[in-house]
Amino acid sequence: MSQDDLKRKAAEAAIDYVKGGIIGVGTGSTVNHFIDLLAEVRHRIDGTVSSSEASTERLQSHGIRVLDLNATGELDLYIDGADESNAYLHLIKGGGGALTREKIIAGASRQFVCIADDSKLVDVLGGFPLPVEVIPMARSHVARQLVKLGGTPVWREKFITDNGNIILDVHNLRIMEPAKLEQEINNIAGVVTTGLFALRPADILILGSEGGIRTIDPRF
Ligand code: A5P
Repeated sequence: MSQDDLKRKAAEAAIDYVKGGIIGVGTGSTVNHFIDLLAEVRHRIDGTVSSSEASTERLQSHGIRVLDLNATGELDLYIDGADESNAYLHLIKGGGGALTREKIIAGASRQFVCIADDSKLVDVLGGFPLPVEVIPMARSHVARQLVKLGGTPVWREKFITDNGNIILDVHNLRIMEPAKLEQEINNIAGVVTTGLFALRPADILILGSEGGIRTIDPRF
């Protein structure tokens, strides 16, 4: 089975969590499968809140309503992918550059269900370069601070986020204390968001694997 087939399997399993109300929708190739499947059950829901222009376009192309988070209140459910997860469901996200809106929706949702193929589960986060969204004028300043934290930041050139900012991808990190590092990066002036999701991790991780679906819920 291809990696894309495994992503689709995880997305299929996530549809079972869609009971009604307004659904938060993430960004990326795994979520694209979820959006396509959500179209088939759109009568079940009142609408969605989207984490990127790309997801909004895909949702609307299926006739699914996209609402402003300011108009919805807290959401019951958020579905999104990840670039890496550890066993505690601390995540690295933002490979597609949508980390800021993703983090906002994750924070505004009671349940965050993460969907991925099983290659995304790792022992220690950091093999995937950690995306950090930065205000453009702060690029060099933030890069120097990230070096002090032990990383090697690389400017994602020719890429502007949906919020008009730039991304630094931080290589060579072995993230042993994700929540601590998330706070340290948040404290650098000029950082908008770090792609580390540890202070608000996922609640459930659904992994598509050759052997079928594996669901990780750290409460059990
Ligand atoms: C988007 O910015 C990311 O956070 C995605 O959720 C993440 O990159 C996963 O993407 P794929 O589903 O394409 O692997």
